[in-house]
Amino acid sequence: MTTLQVEIYPDRPALVARSQALVLERIRTAITQRGSCSLALAGGSTPKPLYEALAKETLPWSKLYVFWGDERYVPIDHPDSNAGMAKAAWLDKVPIPTEQIYSVPTNLEKPSDAALQYEQTLRQVLGSDEWPQFDLILLGMGDDGHTASLFPHTSALAVSDRLVTVGEKSGEPRITFTAPLINQSRCVMFLVSGSNKQAALTQVFAAEGDDNAFPSRKIRPQGELLWLLDADAGEPIKTFPDVKIFS
Ligand code: 6PG
Repeated sequence: MTTLQVEIYPDRPALVARSQALVLERIRTAITQRGSCSLALAGGSTPKPLYEALAKETLPWSKLYVFWGDERYVPIDHPDSNAGMAKAAWLDKVPIPTEQIYSVPTNLEKPSDAALQYEQTLRQVLGSDEWPQFDLILLGMGDDGHTASLFPHTSALAVSDRLVTVGEKSGEPRITFTAPLINQSRCVMFLVSGSNKQAALTQVFAAEGDDNAFPSRKIRPQGELLWLLDADAGEPIKTFPDVKIFS
């Protein structure tokens, strides 16, 4: 059963500060309760200030295992690389063992082979349960309602027997967690900022809607589902039940 928590903050700095506090809390709790924390990072631009803030924190880094929920199919030194962004903003600045940072192998000729290899790595690290469980998955949401690289009306949305698959945006391949894998997570945290996300958020939070048109609707984890929004993004849903407004 999903535990939903929706919070709206006055601006992006307040959103980032809250997300930082919650991420630290979930990491520390996982390590205390289970001896380690498995974390999957979001790409895009919204989480970058969060990663920069986490670079200043002190954590038991040797207990952290970091993956990415999706990746563009580019080399890690490409400006579009999600792993490149998070490493520059955070992971290269803290003493986390490099062998515990699992970026997507985007150097393989076939993206489908990369998806298979990443799934194998994920199983090796998280265990061979049919559906391995992350402690925390960070997600963003595009203005079309996509999340990770689960884009509207794409075949990746229907994949239900894999952990990782090949998504695509405008014909360009992406590697992405599948919705079933994301929904296994103990905690999923969306970070959404900007008025350009209002229309998609309205559709995602609507009681009835098309999950294939607005894929973020598919994310209903068995654990916690946290939506952290700034006021620009959250305006249309601020009167919805269970939404907490922070000034
Ligand atoms: C990616 C992301 C993607 C992102 C959203 C929001 O690879 O682009 O994983 O799902 O989270 O597109 O991006 P912004 O944070 O830049 O708005």
